[in-house]
Amino acid sequence: MNLPNMRDAAKRFKKAEYIYENRTNQRIYEGKTYYIRTYGCQMNVHDSEEIKGLLETLGFSESKVLEKSDFIILNTCAIRENAHDKVFGFLGRLKHLKEKNPELLIGLCGCMAQEESVVKEIKERHPYIDIVFGTHNISEVPTMLEKYSGKQKISVYSKEGDVIEFDNLYKRDSNITAFVNIMYGCDKFCTYCIVPYTRGKERSRLSKDIIKEIKDLKENGYKEVTLLGQNVNAYGKDLEDSTTFSNLLEMVSKTGIERIRFVTSHPWDFTDEMIDVISKYDNIMPYIHLPVQSGSNNILRLMNRRYTKEEYLTLFNKLKSKVKNASITTDIIVGFPGETEEDFKETLDLVNKCKFDGAFTFIFSAREGTPASKMKDNTTLEEKNKRLQSLNKLINKYSKESNLKTLGTIQKVLITGISEKDKDKITGYTETMKLVNVKGSKENIGKIIDVKIIDAKSFSLDGEEI
Ligand code: SAH
Ligand code: SF4
Ligand code: F3S
Repeated sequence: MNLPNMRDAAKRFKKAEYIYENRTNQRIYEGKTYYIRTYGCQMNVHDSEEIKGLLETLGFSESKVLEKSDFIILNTCAIRENAHDKVFGFLGRLKHLKEKNPELLIGLCGCMAQEESVVKEIKERHPYIDIVFGTHNISEVPTMLEKYSGKQKISVYSKEGDVIEFDNLYKRDSNITAFVNIMYGCDKFCTYCIVPYTRGKERSRLSKDIIKEIKDLKENGYKEVTLLGQNVNAYGKDLEDSTTFSNLLEMVSKTGIERIRFVTSHPWDFTDEMIDVISKYDNIMPYIHLPVQSGSNNILRLMNRRYTKEEYLTLFNKLKSKVKNASITTDIIVGFPGETEEDFKETLDLVNKCKFDGAFTFIFSAREGTPASKMKDNTTLEEKNKRLQSLNKLINKYSKESNLKTLGTIQKVLITGISEKDKDKITGYTETMKLVNVKGSKENIGKIIDVKIIDAKSFSLDGEEI
């Protein structure tokens, strides 16, 4: 840890501590409502849970109706251009609302707020946005509100500080499953990716704080925790006590919480020790999201992914053979600059070899400031779309095949609520993270029950309680 960072962190901690100490009994916004719209990954969803927790300690209550809210917050994502476009599209609607109701407060936060060009655009063209705060500034929201005087307020740290621990600050969306941050940031710098710039360096939470949080969740009836990090396998590399992700997984397993998941795994940091721990403990779910991004070694190198297609396949096969019933999903980018038809065929070949249980597929999107945005790209968007479509066809075929394999089997399903498709059914996830709509009693919400699978579709299963 270097000195400036420490000093900086101490300063920030003071600020956070101030807010923490003072916000209790200061329900100055009693009667006011907030509405928060969240874009992006689980990390952002969990940040929103933190923002909600903070606002509610100040007296705000949550509103699900945009038009009736006093404070509207957009927690944004910057991963691809379309995420960006969606936010600016939605801001147009908010501008109209504000014209009708000048009292309305509008806030923008999340990864887009960390982008210099976005902040510039907001300052110049979107004066109706009242407060803007970055991913490292969530704890400042109360002060920003307190000091707001009708003039746009922007608070975005360009550099991350140390991890700040708050007790029970989150207002979690579920009382059955919970996200738990184990680390922040990312040091991998894949050449296409903006996350290292918007989330800063890798910083791990101390294992004792993580375990305490999980024990509390368990005591409060939670059945499942998902450990969150952009690259969970790198957990602990920045810690002085040399705890590794396998050590942490083992400790979490021993808390006795019924289900443990983790996202996202980077193939480069995945050790044999981790595979052993995952296969050893029954409460660590046999589900691994293992983004590959491309099957071409040339493209993987240009992406700075630090592994080859062959190394990925070796890891994949090891996981499949050592972790019983392992379900593995992935992320794939098509149309990375310089990707040829041959490169793309290598990706299809890899998919044919792995037969993934599911995958998220994306067309490369140039993000300002990343090395890939400056790379030469000769492929037309039309060609990229064609590649995406043929990839998706293959992915869907394998995910349907994987779902069909469960037909007639009995699966342990953690019931999380009423089915969105059919209000007479309940819904939940298998150990392998497959969504199941179940004919069964609503009394089962929050429980893990045995379900017989009676139908399999591409993206979900149907089942009945037995
Ligand atoms: N930390 C995770 C991924 C976070 S982003 C990991 O390393 O696996 C989620 C996914 O978005 C990535 O896996 C990648 O497939 C996709 N993605 C990231 N940047 C992108 C870009 N510039 N264009 C297209 N897809 C991108
Ligand atoms: Fe982005 Fe790569 Fe870090 Fe994932 S590992 S967040 S893709 S830089
Ligand atoms: Fe998006 Fe930021 Fe997550 S860019 S994917 S919200 S870390």
